[in-house]
Amino acid sequence: MYFTDTRPKPMTNRRDLHDILSSTIRRPETLTVGEYAQLSETARAAYDAIRVRYASGGLVIRTPQTRTAVSRVDNLMDENSGRIGTQSGLLISGAAGFGKTTLLKSVMRATNLEYDKYRPDAFADGFTPIAYIEAPADGRPKNLLQHACLFYGILIARTETLSSIQARLVDTMNAADTRLLVVDEMHNLSASTTANGDTIDILRSIHNQVPATFIYAGLNLIGGKLLSGPKGAQITARSSALQMTHYAMRKPELRKEWHALIGSFEKALPIVGHEPGQLAAHADRIADLCSGSLGKLSELLTGVAIQRIRSTDSNETITMNHLESRAGFAAAA
Ligand SMILES: Nc1ncnc2c1ncn2[C@@H]1O[C@H](COP(=O)(O)OP(=O)(O)O)[C@@H](O)[C@H]1O
Ligand SMILES: [Mg+2]
Repeated sequence: MYFTDTRPKPMTNRRDLHDILSSTIRRPETLTVGEYAQLSETARAAYDAIRVRYASGGLVIRTPQTRTAVSRVDNLMDENSGRIGTQSGLLISGAAGFGKTTLLKSVMRATNLEYDKYRPDAFADGFTPIAYIEAPADGRPKNLLQHACLFYGILIARTETLSSIQARLVDTMNAADTRLLVVDEMHNLSASTTANGDTIDILRSIHNQVPATFIYAGLNLIGGKLLSGPKGAQITARSSALQMTHYAMRKPELRKEWHALIGSFEKALPIVGHEPGQLAAHADRIADLCSGSLGKLSELLTGVAIQRIRSTDSNETITMNHLESRAGFAAAA
């Protein structure tokens, strides 16, 4: 364990989101086995530390779904540019660990980059082109608004009414020129109407008052109860859907993607001496170990990569033995 000054941040307030979207952890240069073996002890420790940091939080593979989502949102923002109340959005649905939040981050990064061309010092000038809100665990309307207010740094009085909070939020969103509204963990929102009003009503009325494109992501959102009622249907009717699934090896298209995914990870992992392609050759077996889940694959490969970096070996090649023993260990835990 080496402590560094690079603590990861949550995306749930405008400053941290801005920092996350506008910085990237660069992939460290890969040394050859010979170059690595010749490093001094201090240089080696420093090189190992930046590689661990990258494997732990910087490595993101651009999947076909990333490309689809980025271009779809780009189109939606064009289509919505003259609309208010009738904007189209994107729904991202899938089980836990399938990569929804990571995908959202890639989409937000791309949008942020474009907005930066339009208004280079947006954040410093008080603008918030992208809002990221995690739906609160208990899903009540007031809590959703509170999370949104926390994101913008709006202070709420304990006695403030729902409609007053909402009005101030809408004003802030408009003044901040929010163009993209992302709500993650949408499944937390209660599908039933409460005395306080309906969370879906709140989202709809935000659509009516803020001309932002929306992306909603959550567990099994498509076909779920939350968006299937008459109110939810007004949102789904204007949305396109992206379903994230596990990679089933019996489906040729998904199998091909999974093989490519492992190949991409092999190229991206910051380890010394690993020849890409060695693991892709065992992609079906790896799918078994990970139940075809992108999240489990990422955890397995980055976990083993970090073990290899921390080992005293100069050649850090990852073999199936490493993967199997780590997967076995995880399964037994
Ligand atoms: N495209 C990707 N490249 C690399 N790692 C990924 C990618 N997508 C997801 N992961 C990793 O998989 C894990 C689960 O992803 P996450 O986006 O949190 O899933 P979800 O939001 O669907 O639960 C995280 O550790 C994340 O870093
Ligand atoms: Mg998530």
